Amino acid sequence: MDKTALINEALKARKYSYSPYSHFSVGAALLTKSGDIITGCNIENATYGATNCAERTAFFKAVSGGVTSFEAIAIAGGDDGDDIPNDYAYPCGICRQVMREFCNPEEFIVIVARDDKNYKEYKLCELMPYSFGPENLL
Ligand code: THU
Repeated sequence: MDKTALINEALKARKYSYSPYSHFSVGAALLTKSGDIITGCNIENATYGATNCAERTAFFKAVSGGVTSFEAIAIAGGDDGDDIPNDYAYPCGICRQVMREFCNPEEFIVIVARDDKNYKEYKLCELMPYSFGPENLL
């Protein structure tokens, strides 16, 4: 996996963030099992509640295009004013649950990045132990 490329795509996607309310812009780059990268940004809404996170934007773009097999996601988020985020932005609980729907928690990699040299990586199961997923219902 080319983590540098994935992180840089997340940083690029972050530039498209629509975040006039929080001024916190997030980009995500989702690596599919076939090697494609699908990006997303956070898209806020005047109702606040209709806001969509960057990670879910990427997942929903992928799934709505027929892609459901994923290897990793890189996430970069921080204050609008900072070209390089000054901290790591971890995925929210709802986004973790969406990842859990489509990804094997023992295998799927979540990278939180400030840039391509400063990042941390986790398996989804580390960020979401004792989770509930499709196999609990199927
Ligand atoms: N946000 C994301 O895009 N991803 C996360 O996992 C955490 C939060 C966005 C939502 C909102 O637009 C802004 O960050 C502040 O919460």
